[in-house]
Amino acid sequence: MKQNNIKLPLIKHFFTLLFVMLIGMSSCKPVIIKEDLRIENLLKQMTLKEKVSQLNLITALDDNNNELDVIDKIKNGEVGHILKSNGAQNNLELQKIAINQSRLGIPIMFHEDVIHGYKTIFPSPMGEASSWNLEMIEKTAHIAAIEAAASGIQLTYAPMVDVTHDARWGRIVEGAGEDPWLGSEIAAARVRGFQGKDLSDSSTIMACAKHFIGYGNALAGIDYNIGEFSERMLRETYLPPFKSAIDEGVGSVMVAYSAYNGVPASANKWLINQLLREELGFDGMVISDWGTISNLIKSGNAINENDAAQQAIEAGVDLDMVSEIYVHQIEQLIRDGSVDIELINMAVRRVLKAKFDLGLFDNPYVYFDTIREKEVVLCEDHLLIARQAARESMVLLKNNNLLPLSKEIKTIAVIGPLANRKKDMMSWWGANHSQGNENDVVTLLEGIKSAVSKQTKVFYSEGVILNGFEKSGINLIDEAVAVARKADVVVLAVGEEYWMSGEGASVSEITLPGSQNELIQALARINKPVVAVLINGRPYDIRTPVAEFDAVLEAWQPGTMAGHAISDLLFGDYNPSGKLPVSYPYNGGQIPIFYNQKRSSHDFEGVNLTDRYKNNYLDITTKPLFSFGFGLSYSKFEFSNLRLEKDTIGMNETTKIFVDVQNISDRAGEEVVQLYIQDMVSSAIRPAKELKDFSRISLKSGELKTVVLDINPEKLKFYNSEMNYVLEPGYFSIMVGNSSQNEDLLVKTLHVK
Ligand code: BGC
Repeated sequence: MKQNNIKLPLIKHFFTLLFVMLIGMSSCKPVIIKEDLRIENLLKQMTLKEKVSQLNLITALDDNNNELDVIDKIKNGEVGHILKSNGAQNNLELQKIAINQSRLGIPIMFHEDVIHGYKTIFPSPMGEASSWNLEMIEKTAHIAAIEAAASGIQLTYAPMVDVTHDARWGRIVEGAGEDPWLGSEIAAARVRGFQGKDLSDSSTIMACAKHFIGYGNALAGIDYNIGEFSERMLRETYLPPFKSAIDEGVGSVMVAYSAYNGVPASANKWLINQLLREELGFDGMVISDWGTISNLIKSGNAINENDAAQQAIEAGVDLDMVSEIYVHQIEQLIRDGSVDIELINMAVRRVLKAKFDLGLFDNPYVYFDTIREKEVVLCEDHLLIARQAARESMVLLKNNNLLPLSKEIKTIAVIGPLANRKKDMMSWWGANHSQGNENDVVTLLEGIKSAVSKQTKVFYSEGVILNGFEKSGINLIDEAVAVARKADVVVLAVGEEYWMSGEGASVSEITLPGSQNELIQALARINKPVVAVLINGRPYDIRTPVAEFDAVLEAWQPGTMAGHAISDLLFGDYNPSGKLPVSYPYNGGQIPIFYNQKRSSHDFEGVNLTDRYKNNYLDITTKPLFSFGFGLSYSKFEFSNLRLEKDTIGMNETTKIFVDVQNISDRAGEEVVQLYIQDMVSSAIRPAKELKDFSRISLKSGELKTVVLDINPEKLKFYNSEMNYVLEPGYFSIMVGNSSQNEDLLVKTLHVK
């Protein structure tokens, strides 16, 4: 590795000396003193143009993935950051230009959307969230960081921590579901995974919590649409995962395309300066989303680029992603006195600090290691973890004793448009925008073939052609039915193509696209045992397969090891343990649907056609098809003996909650024990249920464990009628079980006084 050759002047040595003296004299953290001095020292040498360049984030690929020429911009000292530039060798060349050919030799920071893996693709974030396994989620983020860091990347635009209640919104796939508490735990795990303990370690990268804030509230489920929401909703639903990421030390935050209270996030002083920086204490970089500074003009909030730049920098946006408005406008704004130079200095300080923290000044080439890149990317260990993560991410929704299948089965028909697809196993990010390569993916058909015995005959039929929303390949159904008739069991893979969820992928209906329902109905008519395997980013209306087939497995988009991981579940090498992080709607008309809805004056009773004065639809149930937290196992678990360490606690006290869980089946398995609360009387309406703790446990056949969860004052607090965050004394229901639905929960009461 080359050593830092940044061109710092002699004054650096004075500060180094001072630093050495300070280490001896003070008990303060020496690194901070050293870094601050170096930042100030550098800032003093920078021209205004050089400062503004540090706020400029350009892309190496345009919207259509065509390469753009970034070299001149680097030489001219116009660029502080580049996104969509990958590969150790490639980025090394660019970094060398920045170091050797720009006046101050300030290193570039390379950003990328490393969303669920770099080249080893893990399950989509929605899938990973279904594992409720924080250690695993941290581990996959760490592996993604190792691969990305070795390939020249220092910052990822992840985790996305947007909570949403709308399966029509394609970006539901990228988040952790509908619950702020689970979302917060997962946000923290992902930040820990990406950033590790030391950002300057060459196997960690900086994380970015996005999109600040309320982006998941897209009106009518249409991406980029502005939904109105209250400050209460912001604080109760959207803010907790951001707070959690910030408390975990996330290095950057990206603002949303959307607006809050009528003001776009990129120009919203209250959101960024007040809420994010002052209230939450976030002191890292704030990054605009793609072109959101220029979007201020499109949405009619700014009259021109000059105005847009002023609004964004004054609101607290540090980096301008791709609109290149800062680089063209800020000098003018400073010259004519419209913007205070100190605002620019503050933003530049944050950028330089990030670069120092990443170790880029001390060793600007540390992330561009071609040998390490070859060693770590898609290595055997990473693939093993990808297989395990994918197994844990799948949710068994129905099983009439069909699963697990025997590997000795004589004949098996693998049917469906997704049974032998590769790219569709990876999600829009993994397949199209990250570095995932479809050739590395194991299809379901391949996985099944490698799992079954040598004697087993595996038949395959595509069934119908999945080509977006088109009704294609209906003429193939007869052949699929004939194939199914020959087999002892059918494995049917249906769902969506990779691009059908993700950014800009909104749908008005959540019915399975194309001719898949026709295929499902045809197979339902022949009375064969069928297991439906769902490959999808968002929940779909799956009433027909659930009604007609013996088993339904939600596999989400499992990533590189898809086929092996699904087969592990189908043939019992892994016992399903995933739990839904979203309510699975009965149909699209129920959207928005989520388990932690506010209590209502009228009862929720599912469907009630006779009594109109209930909280019901007249035509369908108000219950989801599958509840948040639901997921089956091949084992059977019994919950009993829910008890509280203390039935009554003071306002500052904590109590443990105990429950006995026994595996009453003959198969070892894993269960997620979930704790929900309900504040029984409160000054502002509270949700019917709120998740407040969980524990993932393994139990051998017959084994009983006492699971200990806890309730502390922080978990009982809420925004009261005056919008103060308080704990109101009174009674709370404590509910523990293996899903959020009433019939799965044991209940006790806790008194707080
Ligand atoms: C998305 C971000 C993403 C960025 C860069 C935007 O359109 O909203 O989530 O990180 O593009 O690819």
